[in-house]
Formats: sequence, structure tokens, C-alpha cells
Amino acid sequence: MSDVVSYELIGNIGVISVNHPPVNALAQVVREGILNAVTAAQGDASEAIVLRCEGRTFIAGADITEFGKPPKEPGLAAVLAAIENSNKLVIAAIHGTALGGGFEVSLACHYRCAIASAKVGLPEVKLGLLPGAGGTQRVPRIAGVKAALDMIASGNPIAADKALDMGLIDEIVEEADLQAGAVQYAKDLVESGAPLRRIRDITIDAATIEPGFFDNARKQLARRARGQIAQDKIVSCIEAAVELPMDKGLQRERELFLELVTSPESAAMRHIFFAERQAAKIKGLAKDTPVREINKVAIIGGGTMGGGIAMCFANVDIPVVMVEINDEALQRGLNIIRKNYKITVQKGKLDADKMEDRLGLITGTTDYADIADVDLVIEAIFENLELKKEIFAKLDSVCKPGAILATNTSYQDVNAIAEATSRPQDVLGMHFFSPANVMKLLEVVRGEKTADDVLATSMKIGKKIGKVCALSRVCYGFIGNRMLGGYGREAQLLLMDGCTPTQVDSALESFGMAMGPLAMGDLAGLDVGYKARQGRTDLPDDPKLYRMGNLLVEMGRHGQKTGSGFYKYDAETRKRISDPEVEAMIKQEAAKLNVEQRDISDQEILQRCFYPLINEGARILEEGIAQRPSDIDVVYVFGYAFPVAKGGPMHYADQIGLKNVYDKICEFRESYGEQYWQPAPLLKQLAEAGKTFAEWGSEQG
Ligand code: 3HC
Repeated sequence: MSDVVSYELIGNIGVISVNHPPVNALAQVVREGILNAVTAAQGDASEAIVLRCEGRTFIAGADITEFGKPPKEPGLAAVLAAIENSNKLVIAAIHGTALGGGFEVSLACHYRCAIASAKVGLPEVKLGLLPGAGGTQRVPRIAGVKAALDMIASGNPIAADKALDMGLIDEIVEEADLQAGAVQYAKDLVESGAPLRRIRDITIDAATIEPGFFDNARKQLARRARGQIAQDKIVSCIEAAVELPMDKGLQRERELFLELVTSPESAAMRHIFFAERQAAKIKGLAKDTPVREINKVAIIGGGTMGGGIAMCFANVDIPVVMVEINDEALQRGLNIIRKNYKITVQKGKLDADKMEDRLGLITGTTDYADIADVDLVIEAIFENLELKKEIFAKLDSVCKPGAILATNTSYQDVNAIAEATSRPQDVLGMHFFSPANVMKLLEVVRGEKTADDVLATSMKIGKKIGKVCALSRVCYGFIGNRMLGGYGREAQLLLMDGCTPTQVDSALESFGMAMGPLAMGDLAGLDVGYKARQGRTDLPDDPKLYRMGNLLVEMGRHGQKTGSGFYKYDAETRKRISDPEVEAMIKQEAAKLNVEQRDISDQEILQRCFYPLINEGARILEEGIAQRPSDIDVVYVFGYAFPVAKGGPMHYADQIGLKNVYDKICEFRESYGEQYWQPAPLLKQLAEAGKTFAEWGSEQG
């Protein structure tokens, strides 16, 4: 055989072992190795064959890096056919995660056993794909159409015990020695005369499917698609599993898979898959940089943010001490956490017992002396630099040497905060996004003096609490909020130029943003931006700028919390409703300022809102604030709900062509003034060189 796939006889059982770190992805060598081993086993003394993997997991899918490249023989379909057609039983022995093509390989086997901690899943949809090796045809045949659709359209993995109930696996074996357990299971099957059970032979009774099931599924999935196109095709494949014989169903699946694998949506989602993993790597830091142990955490401030952060740690069994200024504030904070957990329990996403365990891990204090023994402190009070400096000086005096001191500030100068301590090497920013227990992004902000092991530890703990981490250097607003400025500004200027709030938000929502910027302003509170603008001296002196936002706040329309802002809100459902009063007001204000209103296309809305993001992104890159263009994409997809099917603002810009973006910004400079539109030097340089941000990123290493 080969180093990657080996084969040995253990008694009367042939054992095929795949060893292709890190995740045993189905690269060409793996496909070829399995095919050769199955073929060899047909003629030897084995009575059944076990397929297992070395390392941390069973096969975790096709090799994603091969997509978009010329296909190499043997294809996966040939490997699956060899397994399924084997004249001896083939049994998959699963540990870790059997995902995508990996789970599909196991579905071609005649039986599947797994250890209790294993998971199986078809996550292709998360890459803008559908299972392309029979998953859409075999899962409905064994688990039913509805379960198959839920599994494939969500892409979420299923734990072994549930998979057993669903018929996706047949046996759970002892955790301690999967190989021995699987060999024994294979022997038992042989002894009991178990048949060569092939899923392809099962037919689905179409009469059991409710009328309209597939149409409803399509409609429901379309509502959440946000520019993704795979879900609709997944429904078509499962429909084919019901209506067509296996070989025709497989053919249909193949055709639709090929359409998706060449689509820009899937390319964008695969870009994000690798970008997410890349973002956790810090340039210049050795892989083996030591990390500090984090066994106990303190959170300063028990508000919404502090509470959400506390939950993140309790959720992974790390004890948390919450510090507040008095007992009343502390109790309020702890109550909010209990309320949030209760909602999760009510939604059926958490057991009541687990909730109590987690709450038991969160304690409170008003005395800093009680946090002397913690390994990590995250300060999450409101944005006041002087107060933050005071707190860090206090932390410096009470915390043990080596404790990491982090601030959750969204804007303040992390270096100034670090200098308030005698240990700036232990200080950094850990910027969570609200609600902190839900949003995936964690911006790790590197101060001038932050030590390497502090950064490495923060990346590691971020991953442990389920966050996607991206590194930013210090600047006002770091990567994400700094870029957002021009986006919000243009959304409001577009109103003066002739758009309604609904038109602006709808254009951006049709593009795939979870919520348009004006509706988002209403949700966050228009007074927040209003107050922030009061202290700013750097804004252009232009009466059009933020005119509507300012007027609405002055009228008491602060957004959802006051029942109205750019929109009206239904008191009960909170549904947003266009407000003719606001639309009339926009017209009046434009008239007062002699702005001639005109029809504006959705395309212009997208360009005016997104191009400032892209332009500021280019500045952030040339200043070295972000490590790579793809890190910026990660920040926007996981922190600002930029549609993953567009791959983030920098990937999106590459798709449009940087020359086109640059030319448009120059045109906007002529039309709307250079106080707002000034192309970044890096954008100009790349546009002139005919390069993409991705190419520039690779050149930087
Ligand atoms: N192909 C190529 N590389 C892969 C890969 C894959 N399917 N899955 C993971 N990797 C790489 C990662 O990029 C990473 O590389 P790096 O170290 O250079 O950054 C390395 O393997 C380790 O991955 P993670 O950091 O994600 O490791 P974790 O232990 O956190 O997670 C995992 C492991 C759960 C397997 C996770 O990697 C994962 O979800 N992988 C993707 C699974 C997937 O989507 N499979 C379906 C592929 S499409 C398919 O199969 C089509 C088929 O239907 C025909």
C-alpha cells in the first residue's frame, strides 16, 4: 500500500488505515490508497473489511484545496462504488468528525460504527456546496427525507448517540480502542451472517412525503439564504432521491454539485473557510510560542457586554468572577446572565441542569482583592479612557504576576491603557461584539508592548470559547469599527440625495447584509452615534452630513427603544414600517439645503456604502493595522454580518476588480467632494498594477 493508506489482516478481518494529517481529507493519494486496499482485500483471506483512520479524526471531507483545480483520478465516485460493490462487508469505524465526503465514504460502507464522542455531518452547505458523493441520495434513504434536509441544509454535525437513533450509524463501540471494537463488531457481523446492506437498494415511499413539502422547504430556506445558492439545489437533490432511481439521483447530484463548485458564492465561502483559519495565525510568532494557562477569569463590569463575555467562559467550564462597583449593580448583572441562559433553555438549546452548572461557575464581587488569583482579566466598562486607566492601575496592584490584562474597548488607545500599568507586556485588547455570547468575532488588539505569549494565549483561549479571532494593531476603532465610518455616513447622505430609508436598507439587504445600516442604527440607538459625533472636531463642515440622524434624535426618535427612528416600529411585533413622515422630512431638508434629489439605483447604493469600506480597508493594510486582506474579510463576515457568500469586503473588491473600484471612487470624488472620497494609495497602486488584494496579501507573506 502506501504511507498514507495501509492495509493489514487482523485474524479474519482486513483493516484499512488512513493516515493523512491533519484531518485525513480525501486528497488524491487517499482516494487511490483506499481504492487499492479495497480491491486487494477482495481476493485475500479477509471475511470483512474495516475502514478506519489514524490521528485526530475519521476523514473530514474532500480536500477543499483541490476544488477549482483539474480533477485527478481516481474520482471519489469510483472509490465509493468499489466500497459499495465489495463482495465482503465493509465497516466504517468512526472517531472525531466524519464530515462531507468522509461521511459519504462511510455511507457507501455496509455498516458504520463509531465511538460515543464522534460526530457525523454533511457541512458542504457552509462552503456553498452540496454533498457531491451521494450524501443527498443515501441520507434520505436511511434517515428519512425531513431529517436529511435538516442535516444537509444546516450543515450541522450530529453526535453519535443521535446519529444512532437516526439510523445514520449502526453501533457505538468502546471509546478506549476503536480499532479493536470495530474488528470485534466486524467479526460479530460475519458470524451472524449479516447481509451486504447497500443503502442504494432502499427506495423511498413518495406517498409518505407531505404535499408541498419541497416547495415549503425552498421558501423557508430562501428567507435565510442571504445570497447563498446551495440550499435550493440541496432541496432539488433530495427531491431527486424520492423521485428518481439511485443512479439518476446521483447524476443529478453530480450536475448540481459541479454548478456550485464553480460558482462565485462557493469560491467566496471557501475563501472564508481558509481565511478564518489563517486569521488565527500571527505573523512572526513561532508555532510553538508558549502559552499561559487560563483556568480562572475575571470580568470587570457586569453590563450587557461583561455578562455576555462571562457566559462565553462559563460555557467552556472556566470559572468567572464578575466585578462590579456595588452589590446592586452586581446583582443586576448576574440576573441578566440568568435571564439569558433561561432563554436558551426555553429554546431547547440547553438543559436546565447544565444552566445551573454554568451559573454556578459565575460568581460576583465588589472587591478587587478577590481577583488576585485569576489568570485573565477582561475589562468591559463603558468607553472612558481615564476610568479605564484607573482600573488598569488597580489591576496592576492586585493581580498576580503573569496575569493577562485585557480591555474590551471598541475605540480607546490600548497602548495608553497598557502604560497605566507597570506590565504593559501583559496588556492587550480583546474586543468582543454584542451580544458577546452569540457573535463569533473576537478582535485581538496587539499593543506596542504586548508579549508574544500573551498574544498566542489570547488566540488559543479565543478559539476555546468558540470565537473566530483576528489580530488588529491599535488605531481608532481597530479594523472593524474604523472601516464602518464611511459606510454609515454614505447611508445617510444617500437620503439627502433622493433615497428613502427603505430603499437604502433593502438594497443592502438584497445584497445579503443581515440588516441595512439605517435599520441597524435604529436597533443600536441613534443617540449613540449622535453623542459620539458631538465631541468630534474632524468631521467636514457640511450641513448635509448626518442631518437626518441628528434631526431624528433631536425629535426624540432614538430608534427601536423609543418606538421610532428612521422607521416606525410596531409596538408588539417590533416589525419595522416605512414612515411617510420621515420620507417627507428628508425631502424638506434636501430642499432647504438646495440639494436636487434624484432617482438613485441600487447599484449606486452598494457602491457608495461599500467602497468607503474597501478604501479604508486598503489604508488599514498599508498601515499594517490588519495582517492580511483576508483578516479584514473575517472581521466583516463574523463581526458585522457581511454575507459570507460574498467573501468579505476585500474579496468582494477583488471580484469587482480594483481598477473599477478605484475609478468609481475617483468619480465620486468629483461628484461628492474630496472631503469624503480620497482613494487610498494602496488601492491606487494595485489598480494601476492590475493586481488584487489577495495577490498583494500573498506577496507580503
Ligand atoms: N480539506 C483541506 N484542508 C482541510 C480540510 C479539508 N476538508 N479540513 C480541514 N483542513 C485543514 C485546515 O485548513 C487546517 O489547515 P491549517 O492547519 O493549514 O490552517 C487544518 O486542516 C486543521 O483544520 P482546523 O484548524 O479546522 O482543525 P479543527 O480541529 O479545529 O477542526 C474539522 C477540524 C472539524 C475537521 C474542520 O477542519 C472542518 O470543519 N473541516 C472542513 C470539513 C468540511 O467542510 N468537509 C466537507 C468538505 S467538501 C466535501 O467533502 C465535498 C464532498 O461532498 C464531495
